[in-house]
Amino acid sequence: MAIPTETVYGLAAPINEVEKLKRIFELKERPLFDPLIIHVSDKIMAKKYCQSWPDYAEKLADKFWPGPLTMVLEKNEELVNDLITAGRKTVGLRCPNHYLSLDLISQMGIPLAAPSANKFTKTSPSKADHVKRSFSEKDVYVLDGGDCEVGIESTIVKVEHQKLTILRSGMITSDDLAKVLGDVEIDFGVTALDDTKSEKIESPGQYHKHYCPDFPLLMGEKVLEEISDEDLKNFGFSKNNGEQRVLEGDPFVAARNLYSLLRTKISPDKKFLYLKIPTDMKQSEIWRGVLDRLQKASIGFIE
Ligand code: TXA
Ligand code: MG
Repeated sequence: MAIPTETVYGLAAPINEVEKLKRIFELKERPLFDPLIIHVSDKIMAKKYCQSWPDYAEKLADKFWPGPLTMVLEKNEELVNDLITAGRKTVGLRCPNHYLSLDLISQMGIPLAAPSANKFTKTSPSKADHVKRSFSEKDVYVLDGGDCEVGIESTIVKVEHQKLTILRSGMITSDDLAKVLGDVEIDFGVTALDDTKSEKIESPGQYHKHYCPDFPLLMGEKVLEEISDEDLKNFGFSKNNGEQRVLEGDPFVAARNLYSLLRTKISPDKKFLYLKIPTDMKQSEIWRGVLDRLQKASIGFIE
């Protein structure tokens, strides 16, 4: 079943139903070494599935849950099986801010494991209709909870006793986390922004190729008309076979609309989509989540 959350739709199964968990990997065509996060209805449920609950976890849950923050913590070995965590000793926990999913989880009394409800490496779904276009009705029942308000996946943070590591950027930033915890060490794990360290990727889902649309995507700060055909030739394109879109200037609006944008159809006589992005994007952390998705979805950035 696909469930609505405030970030993206998830393809869900109760964490104790192994056959249904296997089916998630099958339907998504996702490799078994990529772990799933589990969705809880509150902090009390979360604690049950962890080995330890550091002071930082308590503070972050109080501030951001329900909401777009996933915390990676040491797992309870008895209750969280290796299929979910791909053999790891840690588990990702998230309390989604959507009344339908929260009700469902609390009535079932058990967490739901759920990755984003898209095929592996493809664009994530921020509307019920996006899920319906990727999976047949026979395979996946979609619990329609409307459009996702945040629009990109949760921030993932590994929580240790003295330290946080951001494994995936989202709309909750390191500044937001620091405001709650005060003087805290926050590192960024390796994301697409830092390809040179790809061997150090801690979160297996953070591969370079991800969120991919059905057409080649190029992006840059200039408008398409200002770009030289010489620059486009490197990609096998020219100006007149590109279709341009402009990313909204407000990061929250851009995030909300991002996956619909990556699912637009380009006209049949065009070969690529060119996305003009705001000029301040690379400077401010609030854009990092959107930029990370775009870098993984695109084939290049034009200076
Ligand atoms: O907003 C979200 O987080 C959405 C909604 C449905 O809740 N879910 C989501 O799940 O984005 P998924 O599976 O598409 O992305 C979860 C990421 C994957 O990159 C996975 O590798 C990573 O979390 N992950 C899961 N468990 C982990 C763990 N124990 N340690 C490190 N990374 C982990
Ligand atoms: Mg995903």
